Amino acid sequence: MTVSDIQSVTVLGAGNMGHGIAEVAAMAGYDVTMRDVEADLVEDGYDDIEWSLEKLAEKDRLDESVEEVLARIDTTTDLEAAVAEADFVIEAAPERMDLKKGIFGDLDEFAPDDAILASNTSSLSITEMATATSRPEQVVGMHFFNPPVRMDLVEVIYGEETSDDTAETAYEFVESLGKTPIYVRKDVNGFVVNTVLGPFTGEPAWTVSNGEAEIREADAAMVHRRGYPMGPFELADLTGIDVGYHVREEAGRPIPPITEQKVEDDELGRKTGTGFYDYEDGDGADYE
Ligand code: 3HC
Repeated sequence: MTVSDIQSVTVLGAGNMGHGIAEVAAMAGYDVTMRDVEADLVEDGYDDIEWSLEKLAEKDRLDESVEEVLARIDTTTDLEAAVAEADFVIEAAPERMDLKKGIFGDLDEFAPDDAILASNTSSLSITEMATATSRPEQVVGMHFFNPPVRMDLVEVIYGEETSDDTAETAYEFVESLGKTPIYVRKDVNGFVVNTVLGPFTGEPAWTVSNGEAEIREADAAMVHRRGYPMGPFELADLTGIDVGYHVREEAGRPIPPITEQKVEDDELGRKTGTGFYDYEDGDGADYE
């Protein structure tokens, strides 16, 4: 499969990352199928795409109409139908290896023989996911960042068995989306970006858990002193506090108490209306 053979892209998962990736692929002109396990999840993801496209249109960041982009996106809850004619599949399910291996087993059964099977995992082993298939050379990591429509970088990760052809096609596919790919040649936990990002989000969470700083102070320090677009807590609210929690858990790293508490209380960030900040009242992360 070369990049010019790719027409039909399937995204498995309609959450924050899944719907964002589906949106980006549709904006680049691909025929997209977005699938999730329940109809209301698919509908929420589709509504989020529509909201995002309207925002982009308002700001003149869309080359065509919202309707033209939406017309390229089909939705379904049926995995077999979603992947039956896919050239490129991107799995964007929650960060649990058992779940992902189940999906890759299904992909092996139902996706066309030459399809490329990619995972948007943040940090889990591509090599291990690929063992659920009989074609590990066609399995590759393709890690987008949140929100995919605004974030330029995408990691293209080699599993131990990933062929150069597969990785190169994935790399060129990312370029065709108008984004900047980087290869990650070692399938290490966290790849490159989350390994570097780990201390940026982890250390402040320990500092606040230990009562040594407040959330707003830590965020303000990184934004005003270091020039980051968001502080670590606001970023955790954007990506989902549970996502960071599972990344740490899967890596066997200790979880800061403040993070543990938020997950226990189901206060996971923007998607639940409350996280380290409260978004219900429209205030959000105000540390100016
Ligand atoms: N689509 C369209 N518009 C969106 C949007 C989306 N998905 N998300 C936010 N917006 C809108 C907002 O509603 C706001 O609209 P408004 O002006 O009408 O109120 C507007 O975008 C804000 O955009 P601006 O360009 O004015 O604002 P910023 O310059 O602050 O940019 C940002 C926003 C690009 C999100 C920036 O804050 C940023 O880069 N933040 C850091 C994000 C980041 O680091 N992501 C990586 C996370 S790590 C990860 O994903 C890894 C994973 O493995 C965990």
